[in-house]
Amino acid sequence: EIREPINEPYLGYAPGSAERAALKERLKELKSEEIEIPAIINGEEVKTGRTADVVMPHNHAHKLGTVHYCGEKEVNQAIEGALEAQKKWADTPWQDRVAIFLRAADIITGPERFTMNATTMLAQSKTPQQSEIEAVGELADFFRFNAWYLTKIYQDQPYSPDGMWNRVEYRPLEGFVFAVTPFNFTAIAGNLPAAPAMCGNVVLWKPSPESIYSSWYVMQVLKEAGLPDGVIQFLPGEGADVGDPALASEHLSGLHFTGSVGTFNHLWKTIGNNIEKYRTYPRIVGETGGKDFIFAHKSADVDRLVIAALRGAFEYQGQKCSAASRMYVPKSLWPEFSDKLVAEVKKIKVGDVEDFSNFMGAVISRKAFEKITGYIDYAKEAKDAEIIAGGTYDSSKGWFVHPTVIHTTDPHFKTMEEEIFGPVLTVYVYEDKDFEKTLDLCDNTSPYALTGAIWARDRYALKQMADRLRQSAGNFYINDKPTAAIVNQQPFGGARKSGTNDKAGSMVNLFRWLSMRSMKETY
Ligand code: SER
Repeated sequence: EIREPINEPYLGYAPGSAERAALKERLKELKSEEIEIPAIINGEEVKTGRTADVVMPHNHAHKLGTVHYCGEKEVNQAIEGALEAQKKWADTPWQDRVAIFLRAADIITGPERFTMNATTMLAQSKTPQQSEIEAVGELADFFRFNAWYLTKIYQDQPYSPDGMWNRVEYRPLEGFVFAVTPFNFTAIAGNLPAAPAMCGNVVLWKPSPESIYSSWYVMQVLKEAGLPDGVIQFLPGEGADVGDPALASEHLSGLHFTGSVGTFNHLWKTIGNNIEKYRTYPRIVGETGGKDFIFAHKSADVDRLVIAALRGAFEYQGQKCSAASRMYVPKSLWPEFSDKLVAEVKKIKVGDVEDFSNFMGAVISRKAFEKITGYIDYAKEAKDAEIIAGGTYDSSKGWFVHPTVIHTTDPHFKTMEEEIFGPVLTVYVYEDKDFEKTLDLCDNTSPYALTGAIWARDRYALKQMADRLRQSAGNFYINDKPTAAIVNQQPFGGARKSGTNDKAGSMVNLFRWLSMRSMKETY
């Protein structure tokens, strides 16, 4: 048994602190050199020569390095190597497997803490505080808590009457798991390959090209912690170039995915079309998008609601799948709420994340910038919507979009319904008497059900809201913002079109990477 972990405490990076100086120093070092990011197959660096530039979102002229992209040949090599590695890895006692990830967590929170933070700041344009909570805290928490959950899972054994011994063996899946990871969280990028690997699986990891720089450092940490060659194959590349050959293999045993609905649907369909050829039914675990809501009742505490809306919608530029993006506010609260919200939004500083006083950095890419600003421009022209804060953007140096609040009179306005994945919050103001009708609207407006927050001081109203919105969110917040779930405190994931709800950082998730054998022995 291993000791029950505690969540990793965060550093504050306050002005004048030693940690702030150390992080600044690490940023300077990292920026002073361009790195080459190869694939890693069977522990070997593979440079394919098909390269792309790696740049910073908040300064797109600054090159961090070059990445080598994989295709069918490398994927097939990786599959072969992984299956070979599996022979030993699947037979390795769980204590030895888990020890690697516990050590990795200590590296992340110890000697490489500032590297983890700085690479996420540079690659994903995260503020130091936002990087600290996830690239350090959440990633280490995933490793430590999953290790601890596994000790409990392996110990859970069935009842044995006299004269026999019943037991269960928690085998890894036969074949390899394909992990496809998103740009927005280094913690998720690290956890998606690590969780199945900890359970004894071998994994092909396709990191997002948009955050390849920080994913590369996660892979370095895993190697340093002692991960054997071939257990996690690191395969940068374009979606189809890596995905198609991976999903075409008869040895695919699972998909661990976080990304868009479109990609998840495509991968699921491809698996469906290939189903005859697989040796086992692949486990499909995915988290996709959200159209996350904040719903306020007339009894809500306006001052706290303003801060929750602002942090929920604009931290990390609204690029959390959990970010608040639609809001329902009663008319009786609207004058006070909108005045206070607009005043607060105007104070938000946007810019280079290396200036620690900025609250927001840039959005991830040109593509994201164009998509988000397209929605803002649409709202500018629409007659049933008005931009009450922000609405401006600037791509001359980096992909900067200012925090934007849209007030609409149409509960089905485009930005109330579609996932934007940027710093845009749309507010619909409802008549107080239409409270119940508006709860129905909130539940029916979006196909997603990831996160949601309800706000009221009236306890009966809270109960009514929680009941009516039971299926509207997998992570439900009462008088809080809908973001920033913490491992072992709020297991994370959503249902409906937000995913399979196999909560990240939980036993539910780990069970998906294990295949039980029941054994009965009679004396
Ligand atoms: N886990 C993150 C959050 O809760 C989103 O992926 O904000």
